[in-house]
Amino acid sequence: MGLKVGIVGVGPVGDRLVRVLQERKFPVDGELKVMATYEREEILADRPFYVHKIDETVFKGLDVVFFAGREGAKGVSFQWGREATKSGCVVIDNGGDFRMYPNYPLVVPEVNMDAVTKDTRYICNPNCSTIQMVVALAPLHKAAKLRRVVVSTYQSVSGFGEVAMEQMKTEAAQVLAGQVPEHNPSVFAHPISFNCIPHIDKFLPNGYTKEEMKMINETRKIFDEPNLLINATTVRVPVLIGHSESINAEFELPIDREKAFEILSDPKKSPGVVLMDGPASDPAASNVRNDPNEQQYPVAGDLAEEKYKDAVLVGRLRNDTTVKNAINLWCVSDNLRKGAATNAVQIAEEMLKRGLL
Ligand SMILES: NC(=O)c1ccc[n+]([C@@H]2O[C@H](COP(=O)([O-])OP(=O)(O)OC[C@H]3O[C@@H](n4cnc5c(N)ncnc54)[C@H](OP(=O)(O)O)[C@@H]3O)[C@@H](O)[C@H]2O)c1
Repeated sequence: MGLKVGIVGVGPVGDRLVRVLQERKFPVDGELKVMATYEREEILADRPFYVHKIDETVFKGLDVVFFAGREGAKGVSFQWGREATKSGCVVIDNGGDFRMYPNYPLVVPEVNMDAVTKDTRYICNPNCSTIQMVVALAPLHKAAKLRRVVVSTYQSVSGFGEVAMEQMKTEAAQVLAGQVPEHNPSVFAHPISFNCIPHIDKFLPNGYTKEEMKMINETRKIFDEPNLLINATTVRVPVLIGHSESINAEFELPIDREKAFEILSDPKKSPGVVLMDGPASDPAASNVRNDPNEQQYPVAGDLAEEKYKDAVLVGRLRNDTTVKNAINLWCVSDNLRKGAATNAVQIAEEMLKRGLL
């Protein structure tokens, strides 16, 4: 027997949730129940769904509900999260509202699934940029204990939802037609096409953005390392899907490129990671230009390949030549899939396996 499953939100994350549940053959009993702010029909994962208007009655009878709505005081989690758990559902929430609440586990299944217990009814999915970073760093942290992390991100526009993808396409078409792009400041503070913007989410009094502080605080919570030294700069780049990150990580114990390579290339030690590093031996690889010195490394375009679509791709492993026991790496992942939908579905799968759902 399967589970009665609901999805709140029909944006790109809602769409990927439907796809991932289907692809991974999650045991859904009957039709998925899709909810949003008003009743209509929507195409999700290339097929039509009846969308229920969300209200206090819609959660009745559901076992698990994936939230992929908007955040904030009037957003879906504050409005409907408790209502859903009161109706007996387990909620797995992609939004950021409850991530730092002490009694709400913040979970990446490859890293801290044990944070979920039999009493857990509400689980938070971390921020997309946090998820891929902790998947890449967790095996190294286990081996050599992180001391300090410095990360810079290159985040795709889909991280801001459907509206941002449309905005970038419109602006790009205008620029290519020789026009001045029509800027929409409610999406990004500057035109995004052919541009990079070091500003994701709101600025805070300390000069960091909320996105940067999310990466810092969420990583500390997931690793259960409240004093971990971590510094983030988050940048929006004109890529449709797929976030990239440049990470410098310093460790307490001895570690170098060779040791990190050995760990990250072992799927048992590094679940969820695909290492794309070193000489480019595959002549079909997208970054090979008939140069024997060419190195293999991941790029966001690789995520379109079936075998990489749910992975955290890691490359550019190098010793930091300025500090002992420190390495640099580059990591790439699909923000809508592993950064949101896939991570959420993996949590539900693991709960089922452990008898928690
Ligand atoms: N995009 C990413 O890379 C990413 C990654 C990780 C996490 N997330 C998080 O995942 C969530 C969804 O992201 P998205 O990019 O798919 O967002 P989106 O394009 O803005 O879509 C949001 C959807 O949520 C629905 N919704 C909003 N408020 C609601 C409410 N009060 N009640 C019911 N439905 C409501 C909207 O319904 P209507 O269509 O009826 O307005 C819409 O379908 C956000 O919290 C986001 O921060 C996103």
